[in-house]
Amino acid sequence: MTSDALPGAKEHIATARAKSAQVDGIGPDTSRKPIGQVGVLGAGTMGGGIAMNFLTAGIPVTIVEAEQANLDKGVATIRRNYENSVKRGKMTAEEVEAAMARLTPSLEFEDLGDADLVIEAVYENMDLKKEIFARLDHVAKPSAILASNTSYLNIDEMAAETARPEAVLGMHFFSPANIMKLLEVVRGAKTGASELATVMDLAPKIGKVAVVSGVCTGFIGNRMLSPRQQQAQALLMEGAAYNEIDDVLLEFGFPMGPFQMGDLAGLDIGWHRDPARVETIRDALCAAGRWGQKTGRAGTITTRTASARRRRM
Ligand SMILES: NC(=O)c1ccc[n+]([C@@H]2O[C@H](COP(=O)([O-])OP(=O)(O)OC[C@H]3O[C@@H](n4cnc5c(N)ncnc54)[C@H](O)[C@@H]3O)[C@@H](O)[C@H]2O)c1
Repeated sequence: MTSDALPGAKEHIATARAKSAQVDGIGPDTSRKPIGQVGVLGAGTMGGGIAMNFLTAGIPVTIVEAEQANLDKGVATIRRNYENSVKRGKMTAEEVEAAMARLTPSLEFEDLGDADLVIEAVYENMDLKKEIFARLDHVAKPSAILASNTSYLNIDEMAAETARPEAVLGMHFFSPANIMKLLEVVRGAKTGASELATVMDLAPKIGKVAVVSGVCTGFIGNRMLSPRQQQAQALLMEGAAYNEIDDVLLEFGFPMGPFQMGDLAGLDIGWHRDPARVETIRDALCAAGRWGQKTGRAGTITTRTASARRRRM
């Protein structure tokens, strides 16, 4: 939301930012770990954007995928995003080549063994995330920090799959991950002070504003947004058009409405994943594989309309 929308919002945001940097249990004496090499698991919507943050900041990234086609698509998307930055005059062609040269694409899990920080951005499924953390425990070096980009799931359950729960925390980026400034750092029950302090210090180096969250469903942002998304779905069922609902939020001052946001982020995020359970229009779209831009099949709002809206902003 723009800070001009509400009286006093600018002061409130400045105070909140200052307070978010003060974290219980960590201070200047807490040791920090050097982060010279990063591993990212999954080259989908989030993995690619997450990788770009580090590549742009000069930190080499190994990105590991399960499928060659998704790896190729993810790397091509990173390059296309960088090339768009050149067209907008935000980067030079040389800077793009330097960033791309810092990227190592791979299909081998073992290639994460050199990383000081590994961030997983695979599908939002607890069984899969648990399997990933158990494997990471064997592959990652002893000093590595192991992070999940989960939107809603319990970090402590993932940490329990490892023999080093102090190394595990959440790094919850927002989509598009190379652009959105907020980073929720999720502190698990056993997350170490040094690991937490390291990630809090790293955030501004990759252009992010970090806030610490406890372990809870949806952490901070998604916890606030979920009721809004539910009410937007309820309004659809009562007969309102999705663009009317989006427009109300745009006029109020938000940069995107709930349906445009769902189309961009992926309708599957937070979906119960039972195609037979259809209680909302979003459930029906998800069951039909219409997850929005990530599947190239519109999630309620067409891409053309979404771009037209963006041009209005
Ligand atoms: N999309 C968003 O807006 C958003 C925002 C914040 C957080 N998240 C979270 O980020 C995570 C990823 O979401 P996404 O939208 O990028 O998903 P996505 O479907 O776009 O990408 C997931 C990728 O993970 C790969 N993958 C699956 N299993 C793997 C494995 N074992 N090893 C390596 N790669 C594997 C898939 O091939 C796919 O390319 C989820 O936990 C999601 O909740 C998503």
